[in-house]
Amino acid sequence: MREGLSGEPRFRTIIEPFRIHSVEPIALTTREQREVVLERARFNLFSLQASDVTIDLLTDSGTGALSTRQWAGMMQGDESYAGSRSYQRFRDTVSSITGFPEVIPTHQGRAAERILFSVTVREGDIVPSNTHFDTTRANVEYQGAEARDLVIAEGRDTQSEHPFKGNMDVAALEETISEVGADRIPLVMVTVTNNSGGGQPVSLANLRDVRQVCDRHSIPLVLDACRFAENSWFIREREQGYEDASPLEIAREMFALADGATMSAKKDGMSNIGGFLAVRDPDLALKSRNLLILTEGFPTYGGMAGYDLEAVAQGLWEALDEDYLRYRIRSTAYLADLAEEAGMPTVRPPGGHAVYLDAVRFLPHVPPARYPAQALACALYVEGGVHGVEIGSVMFGKPQPDGTEIPAPMELVRLAIPRRTYTQSHIDYVGEVISAVVARADELTGLRMVEQAPWLRHFTAAFAPA
Ligand code: F0G
Repeated sequence: MREGLSGEPRFRTIIEPFRIHSVEPIALTTREQREVVLERARFNLFSLQASDVTIDLLTDSGTGALSTRQWAGMMQGDESYAGSRSYQRFRDTVSSITGFPEVIPTHQGRAAERILFSVTVREGDIVPSNTHFDTTRANVEYQGAEARDLVIAEGRDTQSEHPFKGNMDVAALEETISEVGADRIPLVMVTVTNNSGGGQPVSLANLRDVRQVCDRHSIPLVLDACRFAENSWFIREREQGYEDASPLEIAREMFALADGATMSAKKDGMSNIGGFLAVRDPDLALKSRNLLILTEGFPTYGGMAGYDLEAVAQGLWEALDEDYLRYRIRSTAYLADLAEEAGMPTVRPPGGHAVYLDAVRFLPHVPPARYPAQALACALYVEGGVHGVEIGSVMFGKPQPDGTEIPAPMELVRLAIPRRTYTQSHIDYVGEVISAVVARADELTGLRMVEQAPWLRHFTAAFAPA
């Protein structure tokens, strides 16, 4: 992959800024084997065994490789129940990057969400966001509240090249507040980058506008900060005035605009597990810690081992490294280029952690009720053992009492790229698999859903060929 950015020679390949220290074999299977496996999984890729997968692009969450420094830090993990040294390092790192004094460690992002929403959200409330990820939506709804997505119109247009498609529609936020009243809005969330909307960044200008609206109505602003470092890099590349700012400086500016953040350290924490809730308000922190003790653990380890706290503390700094971020964002764009060259429509421009294939434009003959994105994800698996995930009507469709369904606004397949894990030749292979699926587009007829759970149904739903 070549440099497309300013400042570097254009003829140089952007190499992975690391060498491999430890290797893990991956499964090489035949098409026949994969057909049997998929049928056994009832066409739900969440039911596959990892050993049946060749290139695992299901998620970038917790699937990355640790660095030598993380492993070294883990050897120094302090497993003391109370007051662990590893917690101090974790807290100091999180506070240094985010500016939030209160740092509550959790086992992953959704635990931070559940605690935050349990403490702040009541039945009948509305929680606006640019776009809720499925776990934040489910946790808001679990409190009997409404999770409302207010991303800008460009964020719903898969072909718009808007540089900050994750931005919140500030006018729509104002309208929501005047419609329901500020006292029914316990907080506003902004997800950086906007995962469900295509891994698209949010600008600092937009965060400032959202902040102003929140200030006017005394509503706290909370970042869903899973991919804050990738968002910082996009700001540096795309937002005027930040060309020379470091990712850390940009990250600090983002967090300075918020009252708190939930974080899954499995993404830009560069860790295999972990997360936190970080806030300014000591009262909110106290209530959150009381809940933390009930279900996660003592406040100086939350849901993590001491060595996990070390891995995250080190990983947060590594996620902000410029060479890493340049490689990271360019390597994602490289996969998007391969897909487009093969004739597979993608969400433009490519996001930070993933490439999103647009199943509506790829399979115009498959209606939403036949789950075109699920069908495409299954085809990628059968063709080459590539494991992506549907982000469409299986995940976000709304079943109606009459048995019909309101489809999701988009039908996407996400190919999420684990951090520091696959090389360029792995990604070239994925490009070849996509190309082979493009050649067979006519054969894809969609799927029927034959079983589903009342929430987060995409994890367990079963399908049959339509
Ligand atoms: N918020 C966002 C934006 C996420 O992408 C995720 C997880 C979470 C919250 C929840 O964090 O998994 O640690 O509890 N996203 C993963 C993904 C699962 O594949 O995108 P978690």
